[in-house]
Amino acid sequence: MIDYSKVNKKWWNEVTSIHAKSALYNLNNFKKGKTSLESIEKEELGVVKGKSLLHLMCHFGMDTLSWAREGAIATGVDLSDHSIMLAQQLSREIKVPADFICSDIYNLPQVLDKKFDIVFTSYGVLCWVKDIKKWARLISHFLKDGGTFYIVELHPFCNILSHDLKLYYKYFDKGPYIDDSTGTYADWDADVKGLTYEWSYTMGDVINSLIGVGLTIEYVHEFPFSTYDQFPGFMEINKKGQYVLKNKKIQLPLLFSLKAIKPA
Ligand SMILES: C[S@@+](CC[C@H](N)C(=O)[O-])C[C@H]1O[C@@H](n2cnc3c(N)ncnc32)[C@H](O)[C@@H]1O
Repeated sequence: MIDYSKVNKKWWNEVTSIHAKSALYNLNNFKKGKTSLESIEKEELGVVKGKSLLHLMCHFGMDTLSWAREGAIATGVDLSDHSIMLAQQLSREIKVPADFICSDIYNLPQVLDKKFDIVFTSYGVLCWVKDIKKWARLISHFLKDGGTFYIVELHPFCNILSHDLKLYYKYFDKGPYIDDSTGTYADWDADVKGLTYEWSYTMGDVINSLIGVGLTIEYVHEFPFSTYDQFPGFMEINKKGQYVLKNKKIQLPLLFSLKAIKPA
């Protein structure tokens, strides 16, 4: 039986230092006070001041700390101990308090006994979710009654496309897929050989998993732009700083966001 968590953790540990140096994450600007949050989640999640916020799959904590800068009482969780160590180091360096926990999200109820006003997760997380129904149960478990779940993520439609924008994968195949490509999304030329196991979910899987645990979906929004160069060579940055397809004859759903409430 393959230990997916162990294999994936190894890769995330390897890429943490590469990401910390990358232009995509731009750690220098963040240390100077710039938020790592995109306007979508800032506008849609609104005021977080004084609210407890659990950030699932927080990587090295830039977004967690950005929410903390906005006044949230933030807790970040990630599988990678290298990422969590860097997050804790960053928190000390920029003097912004936040709790960081190194754990597979599925083991989190065993190490975290708290309920939150907000559960947040974003950009590049669903492909690491090996069981979407369990993921939804976990979200509901950590929400207070009346609490908010918010996700902003790459649109599941993109799962069928290769990096050179060709129809390549099956929308309805859940995986796991083995990814053994080189480089990372933050640096395609990085000298790192991949081995990860990833999963794929349809829009319906995501929505139905949350309905299945009794959450009330407030909205699902779809966006024709991305926050990074998802299809290198095929994208350009528009005046708003969004990555859009160069070919204006086609338009694809590149991101989605979803807000759901746990009924009180
Ligand atoms: C794309 S990154 C996080 C996205 C975040 N928006 C960012 O860019 O910093 C995905 C993160 O999920 C973490 N991860 C993957 N599988 C996990 C699991 N089962 N439990 C907890 N964290 C996991 C990885 O270690 C990685 O830091």
